[in-house]
Amino acid sequence: MKTVSASNVPLIRLADEPDSVASAVAALENGELVVLPTETVYGLAADAANGEAVAAIFAAKGRPRFNPLIAHVDGIAMAERLCRFDPLSRDLAAAFWPGPLTLVLTKRDDAPVHDLVTAGQPTLAIRHPLGFASRIIAELGRPLAAPSANRSGRISGTDAQAVANDLGGSVAMIVDGGAPPVGVESTIAKVEDGIITVLRPGGVTAEELTNFGEVRRAGHGAAIEAPGMMTSHYAPNTTLRLDVEKVREGEALLAFGPDRVGGFERAVAVENLSESGDLRQAAARLFAAMRALDGCGAAGIAVEPIPTEGLGEAIRDRLIRAAAPRSESDKR
Ligand code: TXA
Ligand code: MG
Repeated sequence: MKTVSASNVPLIRLADEPDSVASAVAALENGELVVLPTETVYGLAADAANGEAVAAIFAAKGRPRFNPLIAHVDGIAMAERLCRFDPLSRDLAAAFWPGPLTLVLTKRDDAPVHDLVTAGQPTLAIRHPLGFASRIIAELGRPLAAPSANRSGRISGTDAQAVANDLGGSVAMIVDGGAPPVGVESTIAKVEDGIITVLRPGGVTAEELTNFGEVRRAGHGAAIEAPGMMTSHYAPNTTLRLDVEKVREGEALLAFGPDRVGGFERAVAVENLSESGDLRQAAARLFAAMRALDGCGAAGIAVEPIPTEGLGEAIRDRLIRAAAPRSESDKR
């Protein structure tokens, strides 16, 4: 694969530059990796039908092979060519696409998706993203496999420069579309016997899904269904403490809302996810704030309580994973 340092083309291109669509499509057709903005987080994209290109995603991320990828489509018509929809999944797609909902469906045998994308499973996770990525898929005429643009176990990419620092050597091009408006990954849902199981909380809340049917949350046992949900994910280098009542000496503070916890004045750095306590704003700022505090040399990161309702569930899920103990090899 072409490495970026050997090329004269700038690595980061703005989404609204005149040539960005054509260049991204050409690179993808050529089997190269392109980082694309979506409304959730940046995606590390490859042509889903090209096994070598998909393998390059795993190599760039250092991701375990058993972890399947999401196929991104430009609408329901393309999705129907890849998967079989039950009526409720079709209703959910109609209601939330383009948007931060991924549906796990039965893959069609002739779907133009390489086995590495599904990790050999009979199901395929599929989503129609909003914005630039969707234009690229329409232009390419095929689905894109795209995990979040970060090395495995690291904070998901929500900033083109941070992505360049993390993955720059492995990709042909990074399309900068600014800060993704949602800021956390898509909700992953699977319909079975008319019941919606949330495998990963994300940008579409469980409350929103409840309007369409009974919603169940998969416990940590969901690891079997969504192997990417390893406990220690989204891991900064600095240790996190959640729901703190008091900031300890040497800690940085990840704050939320207008009121501060005890000892906040001794925090070595503070990032507030949302001064006004708005969970949407907090989700959009989450990874950048974690990255900022992770880089400030604090002894630990104290996290103020975040409400459990709405998008708070997805935010807390990311924080719990970031705080989980991890093995030495994960820290590398
Ligand atoms: O918002 C998002 O979903 C972003 C953007 C780029 O679209 N993508 C993303 O992809 O978060 P990734 O690869 O970081 O996370 C995908 C998750 C993994 O936990 C994986 O295990 C799960 O989806 N997954 C993929 N295929 C699956 C399947 N067939 N059944 C169950 N879970 C699946
Ligand atoms: Mg990810």
